[in-house]
Amino acid sequence: MQISYHGHSVVKVKTNTHTILIDPFINGNSLTDLHVSEEKPDVILLTHGHNDHVGDTVEIAKQSGALVVAVFELANYISSQGVSAHGMGLGGSYTFDFGVVKFTQAFHSSSYTTAENDVIYTGMPAGILFTAENKTIYHAGDTALFGDMKLIGDRNDIDVAFLPIGDNFTMGPVDAAYAAELLKPKVVVPIHYDTFPPIKQDPIDFKKIVQTCEVQVLKAGESVQF
Ligand code: NI
Ligand code: MN
Repeated sequence: MQISYHGHSVVKVKTNTHTILIDPFINGNSLTDLHVSEEKPDVILLTHGHNDHVGDTVEIAKQSGALVVAVFELANYISSQGVSAHGMGLGGSYTFDFGVVKFTQAFHSSSYTTAENDVIYTGMPAGILFTAENKTIYHAGDTALFGDMKLIGDRNDIDVAFLPIGDNFTMGPVDAAYAAELLKPKVVVPIHYDTFPPIKQDPIDFKKIVQTCEVQVLKAGESVQF
């Protein structure tokens, strides 16, 4: 399995059979190496409705025929845009042909702002546990540090955890380092930093304070192989 990072919260997972794109915010993401027209995923997973996570989901799903998997209300909105979507709730898991998806809690907010500036309710924000080929990825989405990350760590053998470190909207580096202790993944990859001025961070500083697991700081386009 190849897992690559593409700036902000964009993560791509390539299994032997499927390509899965998480939070494909490409247009407006100055840090990404991806181009919307080139993306042909089989599946798009969304953590929550904010525009810097939904990003180019509808356009990519239309051109690729990708299934979108998201929390129920967000899936309904995406489906209203003419794309096939599968809605789920926090704590539920579902076995798809490409792997198992389970949404976990995230302490954040969730809404989508349309081009007309209408604000759409998109349900609860979430983190994602994705398991395929005996590997488990945790994408925390946007979240504060919370104690039940210990529960997620105790009940799942996480190979790689993507954790926000940007601060301001999510955990900062110190809280994210504590999250790594609770989640006990083999590898942590910091995300959701440097995209906008309020979330400027030095990921090397984050790496220095994480004592409990390996930290891999990935530039856009770089990947970890499992
Ligand atoms: Ni957000
Ligand atoms: Mn965000």
